[in-house]
Amino acid sequence: MTTHLFRWGLAGLALLLASGLHARTPNPIAGERIFNAAGGCGCHTAENGKPLSGGRPLKTPFGIYFSTNITPDPDTGIGGWSDADLLRAMREGIAPDGSHYFPVFPYTAFSKMTAEDVLHLKDYLFTLPAVQQSNRPHDVWFPFNLRFSAWGWKLVNFHPEPLLADVTRSKQWTRGRYLAEAVAHCGECHTPRNGMGALKADWHYAGSREGPEGEVAPNITPDAETGIGQWSKDDLTYLLETGMLPDGDFIGGLMSEAVEYYGQLPPEDRDAIAEYVLSLPPVQNHVRDPDDLNE
Ligand code: HEC
Repeated sequence: MTTHLFRWGLAGLALLLASGLHARTPNPIAGERIFNAAGGCGCHTAENGKPLSGGRPLKTPFGIYFSTNITPDPDTGIGGWSDADLLRAMREGIAPDGSHYFPVFPYTAFSKMTAEDVLHLKDYLFTLPAVQQSNRPHDVWFPFNLRFSAWGWKLVNFHPEPLLADVTRSKQWTRGRYLAEAVAHCGECHTPRNGMGALKADWHYAGSREGPEGEVAPNITPDAETGIGQWSKDDLTYLLETGMLPDGDFIGGLMSEAVEYYGQLPPEDRDAIAEYVLSLPPVQNHVRDPDDLNE
């Protein structure tokens, strides 16, 4: 009898410990910083729509995808999602029902985020107003409308790898790389894609005309002639803060929406992004002039 009780006692203790390990303290403040670095998750807010309630059309060569409701509404948003659900969605591209997401949702970048940052982001999103709005079905062509084609795409193109430490680089550069590559996903707009819609590794940040709204996102590698090689680091941090270009003009389109959030980051985060972007290998690629795309 005593051994019996002892056993149950042990089991109880183990359970208690396990639940204690899984309990975590929400940190929406840290999450807001991630949210800002991610450009306010702007693709999830439609023109004249309620913030983050989805429905924004994202044009791709395969058709139009509509972004989803990521407000904490339990029925139509992500209010019913567990921590594990969001981790799987962001880092593995798998929905809570087990289906695969299309890469228009940039999990290829978010897979490099730390679990802690994904969960803090969730904490922040869950402090925002819930909006009841059902997701709109995507308007894409066969076979891209089939979820299993997303699975096939992942098999070929999605090989998640964490960002490896580079001891030759500074802490600031490492932070900048993390923010740009994993969180802000600058490359989703600024890197051209191949025929399968995957980012071209050799053309990293070299400019693209296939941004989420079919707009031109210029070459931001430090190529002196076709990129931003003539910009100082201050020019770039100032742009990220205010949206003003070195020539005094203001940035437009999707970039201006993102800058509203980059501008709310602590200055050291913008400095870190600039440090990283200006350290990239220069790639010569004219994307400003649509007739002169060097691919
Ligand atoms: C959602 C798409 C998107 C994302 C994400 C994005 N950009 Fe942009 N970016 C654009 C577009 C579109 C333009 C062009 C705006 C214009 O023509 O006014 C632009 C312009 C720029 C420019 C101006 C280049 C020039 O020569 O005029 C810089 C620099 C830049 N982006 C840097 C970044 C960095 C750094 C990040 C990540 C921290 C980033 N962008 C993330 C879409 C994006």
